[in-house]
This record gives sequence, C-alpha cells and structure tokens, in this order.
Amino acid sequence: MLKKLNYLNVSWPLDFTALFPVARPIIVEIGFGNGNYLIHLAQTRPDCNILGFEVSSQSMTKAENKIDRLKLTNVRPIHSSAETALAHLLEPETVTEFHINFPDPWFKKRHHRRRLIKPDTVALMTSRLIRGGMLTLATDIVEYAELAHETLSNTSGLSNALEHPWARQMPGRFCTKYEAKAYREGRRAHFLVFRRDETAAPHAPVIKEVAMPHLFLHSPLNAAELVERFEAQRVRDGEAHIALLRAYVDARRDEAAFEVVVEEPTIDQHTMILLSPRAEANQYIVKMTNLGKARPTDGMHRAVAAVGAWVADQHPEAAIMETKLR
Ligand SMILES: C[S@@+](CC[C@H](N)C(=O)[O-])C[C@H]1O[C@@H](n2cnc3c(N)ncnc32)[C@H](O)[C@@H]1O
Repeated sequence: MLKKLNYLNVSWPLDFTALFPVARPIIVEIGFGNGNYLIHLAQTRPDCNILGFEVSSQSMTKAENKIDRLKLTNVRPIHSSAETALAHLLEPETVTEFHINFPDPWFKKRHHRRRLIKPDTVALMTSRLIRGGMLTLATDIVEYAELAHETLSNTSGLSNALEHPWARQMPGRFCTKYEAKAYREGRRAHFLVFRRDETAAPHAPVIKEVAMPHLFLHSPLNAAELVERFEAQRVRDGEAHIALLRAYVDARRDEAAFEVVVEEPTIDQHTMILLSPRAEANQYIVKMTNLGKARPTDGMHRAVAAVGAWVADQHPEAAIMETKLR
C-alpha cells in the first residue's frame, strides 16, 4: 500500500530518492482533483516522476486508491497546498513541468488573496523550474486567462511558448473532469503555456526548518494556576497569526500544554506548546512539541515567544530569563 504523504510527514525539502525508485525528471500537477490527469501523466510519461499536490482529502484518497490499484511507482500525490509545497518542499530548478488544470473555479476579483495564480506563487513556480521547463495552465474562465496571462508575462524568467496569449485547443491532451464539465455547460477552455527562459528567475530559496524554539522563564505561579488564568487569544507577530486556543494542565507533573494554531503565508500548523518545570524552583521551559508532526518554522518561534510573554505577564515577579528563538 502506498504510504499516505502530506506536507508534514515528508522531508523538507523533498528527497526525491526516497519517493521514487528511479531518478527521473520531475513533473508537478497542482490541484489534481480526481487524479485522472495525474495518472494519465504517470502512464504516458514513464520517463518522468510525477508529483501531485492537492488540498482536498477526498481527492487525495481517490488518487491514492487508483495509484495503488494500478501499482504505479512513478507518481506520488502529496496532501499539501501548492503554496506550502512550493515554499518548503521544492528546491529551485528541480521541476521540468508544472501542470495546473482549472484552478479556482469560484474565481472573483475579491478572492484575490486565495487565488492560486498570483505574482508571489508564480514567482515561486518559476524559480522551481529548470531552464527550458514548462508551465501549462488551463482555465474555462476568460477573465482568469487574461489575468494569468498578465501575471505570467510579467514574471521574470518566463516567456510565452505560444504565438497567442492562449490556445483554444491542445490536440492529444487528456480531458479533465472540470474541463468536461465546462464543455457540457457551454464554456470553452483556454490553455496557457509558458517556458522558463534564459533570463533570471525570481530569487526564492526553499524555506528550511529552523532550530526547535524554546525559552526559559521564572514564574511564581505554577502550571495549574497559569491554566486557571488562561483565556483564548490571538496574537499577530510579523506575518504570523497565532491563536492560543486552550490550555491543559498536568498538575502532578506541574506541566501545562497550550494548543496553538499558527498561520503563516506559506503554511498553517496546529500543535501544542509545552511549559514544564526545570530542576530549579519556579523555573520553567516553554518549548514547541512535535505533536501532529509540527515543524519549527519562523511562526512557531513567534508562537513560543507569545506563550512565554503571556506567562511572564501573569505575575509581577515572572520574567523570561533566556530565549532560544530566532
Ligand atoms: C476546480 S478543481 C479542478 C480539478 C482538476 N484539476 C480538474 O481539472 O478536474 C480545483 C482543484 O484544485 C484544488 N486546489 C485548490 N487550491 C489549491 C491549492 N492552493 N493547492 C493545491 N490544490 C488546490 C482543489 O482542491 C480542487 O481539487
């Protein structure tokens, strides 16, 4: 059975040799839906290894089951948003082709922030392509095609591989589920094809993990007294949005666990931050845990700092003594 992969249980960045039995050029499909195009790529491009990134768990399960049944070894779906995969999993100049089919069907100008094709995501994709690599995008929404054409054309390192902004047909192309739906409903497809050219791509090194964040503090209040005072709160620090949701106590061990959700531009994580006693009286360490395979990102460092600051605020004699934070 295929091991189920997600952005938290794979190595950062990805180790292709651990994913595929044979080293081959990498093709990436983003938002593969029912997985049929992904599987078609795997079957018709045996000279390549295919990676798929998808946010829907239902789509993941469908694709995993099909790949299992077909015993394909050159394709691996990974449960991850494109944004997380591009920033944390893929290194520059490692991908030969990106395929994006019918993204953002609810496209509206006001959905700008959540749109897949926007300048920072396209810059990341461009930096991940090898020279001569290709990016293919299909959409049934003419405004999306216009906007994507503008964004792709304005990205350094990319040039249009077609004579026109887009093609209306691509003979031999596999028809996806959404493409078939669009035709049934009377909409046409627009295919954009851009090539990674000789000009410089945006500089975007892969975001690596940082050291595990922790800090030491002094608090006359014990874990139980702290948890009693706790109230859910939100903190904004830099680009991280940190929600401290709940606090739990283990009075026997004098430990408290703080449930946190940390949202950063490229990743969202949900884990626990632990406060535990040190050998010295009234001294505690506050540290991130690996619960849920959480990764020590910049936002996690800020979350540990937020818990430390909250504890230090609870008593006039409480204070942070030392931090191992970014
Ligand atoms: C309209 S469907 C198209 C599915 C398929 N490509 C097709 O043509 O039939 C868009 C797909 O993209 C996925 N998706 C949306 N935003 C995404 C993101 N940021 N990263 C990865 N997948 C995403 C959705 O879960 C959905 O499966």
